[in-house]
Amino acid sequence: MKAKFNTALWLILLFLNQVLFAQSQSKTVDQRVDSVMQLMTLDEKIGQLNQYSDDWTATGPVTVDNDKTRQVRNGQVGSMLNCKGTDRTRWWQEAAMKSRLKIPLLFGQDVVHGYKTTFPIPLAESCSWDLDAMTLSSRVAATEASAGGIHWTFAPMVDIARDPRWGRVMEGAGEDPYLGSMIAAARVKGFQGNKLGDVNSVMACAKHFAAYGAAIGGRDYNTVDMSNQLLWEVYLPPFKAAVDAGVATFMNSFNVLNGIPATGNSYLQRDILKGKWDFEGFVVSDWNSIGEMITHGFAKNEEEAAFNAITAGSDMDMESRCYKKSLSQLVAGGKVPLALIDDAVRRILQKKFELGLFDDPFKYCNTEREQKELNNPEHAKIARDVAVRSIVLLKNQDNLLPLSKSIKTIAFIGPLVKAVKQNKGYWDVEVPGVDSNFIVSQWEGLQNKVGSKTKLLYAKGCEIEGSDKSGFDEAVQMAKQSDVVILSIGERRDMSGEAHSRSNLNIPGVQEDLLKELLATGKPVVVLINAGRPLVFNYTADNAPAILYTWWLGSEAGNAIADILFGDYNPSAKLTISFPLSVGQIPVYYNHLNTGRPVTSNMGNTSSYIDSPVNPKYEFGYGLSYTNFEYSNLQLSKKKMSIDGKIVVSLTVSNTGKYAGEEIIQLYLRDLVGSISRPVKDLKDFAKIALKAGESKIVRFTIDKEKLSFYNQKLQWVAEPGEFELMIGASSSDIRLNSVFELVN
Ligand code: NOJ
Repeated sequence: MKAKFNTALWLILLFLNQVLFAQSQSKTVDQRVDSVMQLMTLDEKIGQLNQYSDDWTATGPVTVDNDKTRQVRNGQVGSMLNCKGTDRTRWWQEAAMKSRLKIPLLFGQDVVHGYKTTFPIPLAESCSWDLDAMTLSSRVAATEASAGGIHWTFAPMVDIARDPRWGRVMEGAGEDPYLGSMIAAARVKGFQGNKLGDVNSVMACAKHFAAYGAAIGGRDYNTVDMSNQLLWEVYLPPFKAAVDAGVATFMNSFNVLNGIPATGNSYLQRDILKGKWDFEGFVVSDWNSIGEMITHGFAKNEEEAAFNAITAGSDMDMESRCYKKSLSQLVAGGKVPLALIDDAVRRILQKKFELGLFDDPFKYCNTEREQKELNNPEHAKIARDVAVRSIVLLKNQDNLLPLSKSIKTIAFIGPLVKAVKQNKGYWDVEVPGVDSNFIVSQWEGLQNKVGSKTKLLYAKGCEIEGSDKSGFDEAVQMAKQSDVVILSIGERRDMSGEAHSRSNLNIPGVQEDLLKELLATGKPVVVLINAGRPLVFNYTADNAPAILYTWWLGSEAGNAIADILFGDYNPSAKLTISFPLSVGQIPVYYNHLNTGRPVTSNMGNTSSYIDSPVNPKYEFGYGLSYTNFEYSNLQLSKKKMSIDGKIVVSLTVSNTGKYAGEEIIQLYLRDLVGSISRPVKDLKDFAKIALKAGESKIVRFTIDKEKLSFYNQKLQWVAEPGEFELMIGASSSDIRLNSVFELVN
């Protein structure tokens, strides 16, 4: 009896020793992962593959199981989402520490454009073309989120989007794969900081893999059908850029791609991501996207859905419970090899080790740090700086802007002037204990800006939606008493975002009618358009003298708008997505192929509409400044380039206006003849430079093989000899300088 007791005691000690050993610092992460895995039962391994939502905020139906806590204590859950704040995350982590192996939980959250400090929506930020600014805003978001107990953000969304009906265009970086790739890398760098394991770094997540942005009709979650050429050339590059930047995780997507749901898609996840790209992190499903494969008609039940997903390389199951319910019998029945489960578990544990959670599971639960970072005044300054860089000046007739600071009376009119939370845009985070109205409204921003000598008048005029015009009279009266009218109109913040697609992109309600009445007063009217996507506003575009597209700018919206209105920052942003003239033009994007009968030709029947122009209202790369820039003196270091050679392109950019400003100079290329048709132009480089009034600078770009390459019919990345047109533009249509060079064998 005593001997048996001693043996049991010895085994327990040995086991504990192994756990401690597994966690010791002296081993490599791989060895530490191995030693934990040796101790795990199949049930515990499958546990690591489950991600559950906390009981609040959700973006899908929450699975109500009353024993979540028990499952965490049993080691049956690897990660949670929607738990925020150090109190809550500590509470859950304590539950995980009661499990047999004490494997820490990972806490994930949609920190898409800020945690407590809200930054402009990502589409707005992308219009800054300012990679450092985007890295910095992601850095601040990571600092705050990690201080609030979060280890992992479900961002950046790197889906290319050419269809503004899709509500999620607000979450990405627009329509261009080159710029989108640079931005993907900048954001990953910002979220992950120097390295995972630094207490202010969070894991980034490139989503939604893949092609989610091409949902038919712009309807969220809808089918995607596309050629491999388009997939590889346009939709995959930002994901590849995220991998190259060291992104820790990927999220797959809800859509079917060429008949196969992305979540059950081995070509995407095994062949490309984990195969060709050698991605070492893990893939989380989207919310119940494993279960939704049943609705797609791709799996007959949860067991088959689990089988399809794990086989295709989906490592973690967000909220469907299919893995929990079915994986152990799939392994027991020999249908799923244990090696597949082990690979997924290894990838997840690896990240837990890299984050330092095995050494200190409560590392991110420091209440003092939480208080400090959530009240860091530097963050608001950064938010304001990024916000001014995101506002696009669309029109400025007779230099109405910037406004003088000595204007006597300004009427600030519209349903969004005094709105507070609207400025946050769709993916704001409700941070526990933080007043979600902590935002500078547009009204406050203007008040902060003007001195006591300027009188500010306000009238709402109308609501965002509806047909009520009873407020028009008051608004017109206010306008008549003022020297300048500023009208703030647009969408509601939740008219874009997940599951918020629109078939009509007009400015809702009677807001443009209000503008008509205000213009009839003869007063100069500056229009601010607030939205999460490109809208269609032809009346405003053609009649208002000045228009600023302000998107949703976040915590510092009001201050940033006032900075722009009065010229304390000279607008520098340029559109990263085309603005259609009508919904009927969609999809409309700059890097299209030519047709055999282009509209610009005189061939008789052309590829046009009989009732509309084909060009968008505002094109990719468009945006004005309060000053003017001239481009001159284009030089190419040579006109013939060998395959391993380089051409240095230089030009002079001069600020010929009255204000200091920043200009985004865009380099486009066209491969004139290829083994497959090439787009009429492709952005291949850009520079953002600051110039004082009267100043000139030389801008240089280098062209190499990489910039000339594309995927041929065999999906090989090749540069084909022949002629290329080089275009230097202030937008994709406003080409200021061009030349031709040749790639020779
Ligand atoms: C569904 C969304 O598609 C995804 O982007 C998000 O990260 C998850 N829900 C979690 O909220």
